[in-house]
Amino acid sequence: MLMREYIILNFKTYEESTGDKALNLAKICDEVARETNARIVVIPQLTDIYRISQAVEIPVYSQHIDNVKPGSNTGYILPESIKAAGAVGSLINHSERRLKLSDIEADIRRIRELDMVSIVCTNNVEVTKATATMGPDFVAIEPPELIGSGISVSKTRPEIISGSVDAVKNLNPDVGVLCGAGISTGEDVKKAIELGACGVLLASGVIKAKNPRAVLMDLVSGLG
Ligand code: G3P
Repeated sequence: MLMREYIILNFKTYEESTGDKALNLAKICDEVARETNARIVVIPQLTDIYRISQAVEIPVYSQHIDNVKPGSNTGYILPESIKAAGAVGSLINHSERRLKLSDIEADIRRIRELDMVSIVCTNNVEVTKATATMGPDFVAIEPPELIGSGISVSKTRPEIISGSVDAVKNLNPDVGVLCGAGISTGEDVKKAIELGACGVLLASGVIKAKNPRAVLMDLVSGLG
């Protein structure tokens, strides 16, 4: 049986997770998920979604979508196009790709209409509260100053996770709370789960690692 909590790997635009390297990394995630029954999700760059989704069984999400409808638009990411490419969900409002409130709300709606999964990134408890009322599937709390730092949010800012979990429970208990920034060990994951998160969103700890498979195995060991 699959484990309950999630490890969600954002490939960002690192050289180590682009093109052929993205495909290799996604295959490692797929193997680890199969061996351990962990729920692992990969979020490659848009241009790698199609071939990765053809090659792995684990869910593939997009890093971003644009609030556009099919039609006369140029250079945008149409939500229908990522679905056609094999993605089953998307990040919205990552702190490296911030959006206006009105676009966040519209993106959540568009993703829901397409029967896909939405993860809205937030930077503090207040923004988490506002986002939870819009009914995404998940919010992912990530203090921007810890992103890419190797300093774990679950160890250094536990109150931001427990505060988000409590607030979301009161406002909209159907929304899952993920956390991210600086997560790189099984111990960081364990702490996040103890604080009430239903998983972690991470990038550099795995992508920049010498042995991503070993790091993934360690991360999985921290799941409930
Ligand atoms: O989306 C995940 C993220 O922003 C955290 O990045 O490198 O601190 O794991 P990182």
